[in-house]
Amino acid sequence: MGATETGWSFARRTHSFSSELTTILAGSPPGVLSLAGGFPNPATFPTEVLDDTVERLVRDDAGVALQYAPCEGVPSFRSYLADRQEQTQGRRPELAELMVTSGGMECIALACQALVDPGDPIAVEAPTYLGALMAFARYEADVHGIAMDADGIVVEALAERLEAGLRPKLLYVIPDYQNPSGRTLTLQRRHALVELCRRHGVLVLEDVAYRELSFDGTALPSLWSLAPDVVLQAGTFSKLFAPGVRLGWAAGPAAVVAELAAAKQTTDQCSGALGQRLVEEYGRAGNFERRLPAARELYATHWRAVRRAFEQHMPDGCTWSEPAGGFFAWLRLPDGLDAVELRAAAAEGGVAYVPGAPFYSGDGGRDELRLAFSYLSEDDLGEAVRRLAEVIS
Ligand SMILES: Cc1ncc(COP(=O)(O)O)c(C=O)c1O
Repeated sequence: MGATETGWSFARRTHSFSSELTTILAGSPPGVLSLAGGFPNPATFPTEVLDDTVERLVRDDAGVALQYAPCEGVPSFRSYLADRQEQTQGRRPELAELMVTSGGMECIALACQALVDPGDPIAVEAPTYLGALMAFARYEADVHGIAMDADGIVVEALAERLEAGLRPKLLYVIPDYQNPSGRTLTLQRRHALVELCRRHGVLVLEDVAYRELSFDGTALPSLWSLAPDVVLQAGTFSKLFAPGVRLGWAAGPAAVVAELAAAKQTTDQCSGALGQRLVEEYGRAGNFERRLPAARELYATHWRAVRRAFEQHMPDGCTWSEPAGGFFAWLRLPDGLDAVELRAAAAEGGVAYVPGAPFYSGDGGRDELRLAFSYLSEDDLGEAVRRLAEVIS
């Protein structure tokens, strides 16, 4: 590898960098209504219940909350997490099957570090979460997209690939209100998927980032609860509490969790104890049950505003997904339109979105785009969709 113009010789893995996530996190210029970033709505942040808790933790529990923690997590928080898995997913992990991570994204990166050598195949939904695709590229995986339809990943399409000899180290799936498509894997397919993966010895990496954010409060069984022997679950408190705590979990086969913990020793060694104790106190006091219904209702109201605006303004030839939860809708443009090319005109017209192509490992997504309805107000969402429809027309 040659030296760069700065004189530094960067690693081969740096060549995989996609700037799309940086663009999203940087935000939009004034006057542009952004449907780009999937940020939780700050109205859902539990600010008013946290003051007292933080004060109490710092006063009474500084020895734990401000100290290094065990790599797998603060013991009392890990035990709370196990209780919570049982409560929300109907299965209680053994201690060795569960660890704390610094968000869902770290769990994905740890799974790569533990399981993926350069060139190893990974199967993903097509399209899938951009952050995960970027991690897979960094670990130099050979990523294979598996077709989706309105009911989630097409299990027969995966079966065909496995029967043709594909041996993925991981199958990465987001079964609930997927980022980016908003689609949900049906119950029947969940059973078929874990059965297929068990038969072929494929480890499923299940990302449940939005699972508890259905619009109607219901949830389908997680893949991990159906098949804890072949599923590693990546969970996060970013959408349920706040991304600022950078807290999540990994639940899966003990041997896999042990390797993730070993990998974590070389990243941040432990997730922040203050955040762990904060979420534990918050959760043990019943605040998730108390507050999640309002968050679900807020996102449901936002989606209804977007759907109304779609129906009112979108020209013929546009179609969209019908999310039952989460933050995202997926729009298909009329024939011949290209979402990347349209982006500049959209910004001119005062609206931002993420084009579909970066969400695919291979080709695909030219005529698709992702719209996040989590952040803007209802009025702004309506106006953003109207502006977008005008640009498309
Ligand atoms: C599907 C999915 N997984 C994981 C993450 C990462 O979340 P965290 O903040 O927990 O790292 C996101 C964030 O947007 C996401 O959409």
